[in-house]
Amino acid sequence: MKILGIETSCDETAISIVEAEGVLENLDFKILGSAINSQVKLHAEYGGVVPNLAKREHLKNLPLVLRQAFKEANFSLDTDYPKIDTIAVTVGPGLEPALWTGIAFAEELGKKWNIPVIGTNHMEGHITSVLFKADENLKSEILNPKIKFPAIALLISGGHTELVFMKSWAEKEKIGETLDDAVGEAFDKVARMLGLPYPGGPEISRLAEEARIQNLESKIKFPRPMIHSKDFNFSFSGLKTAVLYYLRSLTSPPSPLPLSRGGGEERTQFSPGGEVITPEIKLTVAREFEDSVIEVLLSKTKRAINEYLPKTLIIGGGVIANKALRENFLKLKENYPEMEVLIPEKSLTSDNATMIAAAGYIEYLRGDSKRKLKADGNLNIS
Ligand code: KG4
Ligand code: ZN
Repeated sequence: MKILGIETSCDETAISIVEAEGVLENLDFKILGSAINSQVKLHAEYGGVVPNLAKREHLKNLPLVLRQAFKEANFSLDTDYPKIDTIAVTVGPGLEPALWTGIAFAEELGKKWNIPVIGTNHMEGHITSVLFKADENLKSEILNPKIKFPAIALLISGGHTELVFMKSWAEKEKIGETLDDAVGEAFDKVARMLGLPYPGGPEISRLAEEARIQNLESKIKFPRPMIHSKDFNFSFSGLKTAVLYYLRSLTSPPSPLPLSRGGGEERTQFSPGGEVITPEIKLTVAREFEDSVIEVLLSKTKRAINEYLPKTLIIGGGVIANKALRENFLKLKENYPEMEVLIPEKSLTSDNATMIAAAGYIEYLRGDSKRKLKADGNLNIS
């Protein structure tokens, strides 16, 4: 069947048409057409996503992105819409004003085309993102990896950090989560402290890599929060604060003119408090912060693997775009040769509608969905 996925939970307006076949034990997907409009540049000005601005942009962009997705699939929006069997739309978690725009749009299309609309969980979408092997154009002859259960999913995004135990597609249990900031949020906040643009994850990642190439190490070590706690929870707010205190400790006389203004990150930056953040400090802080995050995520995931003995480890969410993290998680296979490690194609790490269409198909196969077509900012995995 052909599923139209719609995603508007944050700052990407995305629509995909996915051909979905098979049963839960043997899923087959093919991306027919996919389009995304990212609002990142717009929100960067505010240092983060502004919900009402996101809503306005989604409203404006949804019809355009729909047309684009049809075009990508070589379908005509005017004559080929009967080919679509079902719509899957993200109902949560996410920003409610943004979620509502996608839901209303999906309901309107469902009525017009006389087809059902399935409410989909965004985080379950990130799990299904590993089911695609896409080429650069987001189209592919897909090698659909089959998930061997039980599985553990580590979900790391701008709003979430959680470990999920999956006995099957239908039986999922959250076994751990962040007690404060999500890991992507910590990347974004630390980037901001360093005067880097939003979203900070890719920026920190770039600087950390540069520091490794130059063999630059931080003079101080940041904490590895909760690394020894006997549970599967995380905490990143203390790490963020440790970075802040370190940067504050680098005091020097305040400069009347912040040299960084309009000058890019190569110049020395003076914060209003008078601290000096040299380019070298930016590099070493980025590296030490990223090292801390990687160690904590690896350690907690290993703890979960040792306890739950999964046959598959799935990692999803925007933060798994991070190169060092990808490399470290793929290396985990050396310690657990029997376990499959699945991470999404880079193009499917951030929010997209392909994963929503796939999650919608799984929801359809489960047939037990009681999920309402109602935005739920805090929707739990189920
Ligand atoms: O999954 P996602 O696209 O949106 C949410 O559902 O939140 O994740 C976005 C998050 C942002 O915090 C962004 O900074 C982070 O993913 N991110 C990264 C990288 N690329 C994106 N974090 C670390 N390293 C990256 N390369
Ligand atoms: Zn996401």
